[in-house]
Amino acid sequence: MLVVLERGKNEVAEQAARIIAGSIRRNPAIRLGLATGGTMIGVYHELARLHREEHLDFSRVVTFNLDEYLGIPPSHPQSFRSFMQHHLFAHVNIPRNSIHIPDGTLTRDYDAYCEKYERAIRDAGGIDLQLLGIGRNGHIGFNEPMSSLGSRTRTKELSAETIEDNRKSFAPGEEVPQCAVTVGIGTSLETRRILLLATGQSKADAIAKSIEGPVSASVTASALQLHRDVTFLLDEEAASLLTQKPYYRHVLDMTRKLMPERLS
Ligand code: GLP
Repeated sequence: MLVVLERGKNEVAEQAARIIAGSIRRNPAIRLGLATGGTMIGVYHELARLHREEHLDFSRVVTFNLDEYLGIPPSHPQSFRSFMQHHLFAHVNIPRNSIHIPDGTLTRDYDAYCEKYERAIRDAGGIDLQLLGIGRNGHIGFNEPMSSLGSRTRTKELSAETIEDNRKSFAPGEEVPQCAVTVGIGTSLETRRILLLATGQSKADAIAKSIEGPVSASVTASALQLHRDVTFLLDEEAASLLTQKPYYRHVLDMTRKLMPERLS
């Protein structure tokens, strides 16, 4: 695991965008796994700037989003479809039919739909670069604590903590989704490279457990310890409870010297 310690959330977003942009330049037909959440806004903003000002070309990029709320239409302002449209898709040239986001309007045949989503990822050739955020309880996607570490795309009941966190984005009194469709931990472990971003003090405990704790379904991001190529991009607050920071800095210095392409 490569742990990159940055000063603040802007530096985290810029470093993530640099890695994503470099990956697109090296492989213009890259398959990207995308995530939503406040942490990603700066990353998408920077990618949009690179498209506008430096001609970063997304015309052959294929995307698969991690998750979507169940029970709200794509046009709902808080749907992950709307989030992606607003923060990224409206500003870059990804062809419409290269964009995949789970359908939150399903009311039946959930298993068949989720299998189809998995198949679409496989048929596209698998995900080359997966972007992840993390919930305060250590979830990735919407894989809440005690999700199977082998899980695949499926519907998932959200925890009370996650529902409370999500409530902030919904209008006062509005019903907040209780369930979601999410790719599984097993699905994410099959991606070729993972970038997990975390900023702010509220993520410090989840980050320490994910990187330095035991692999456990109680903190589903800890399963990333089993992945062959994962990079954590953290700001000072999110990294504040890690105990091995001098070693991570040493690894980072060596990586910059020996494998600079991993950071650009
Ligand atoms: C939701 C998403 C996750 C995301 C998390 C953190 O739960 N399903 O993919 O990582 O929010 O969001 P934020 O970046 O706003 O803290």
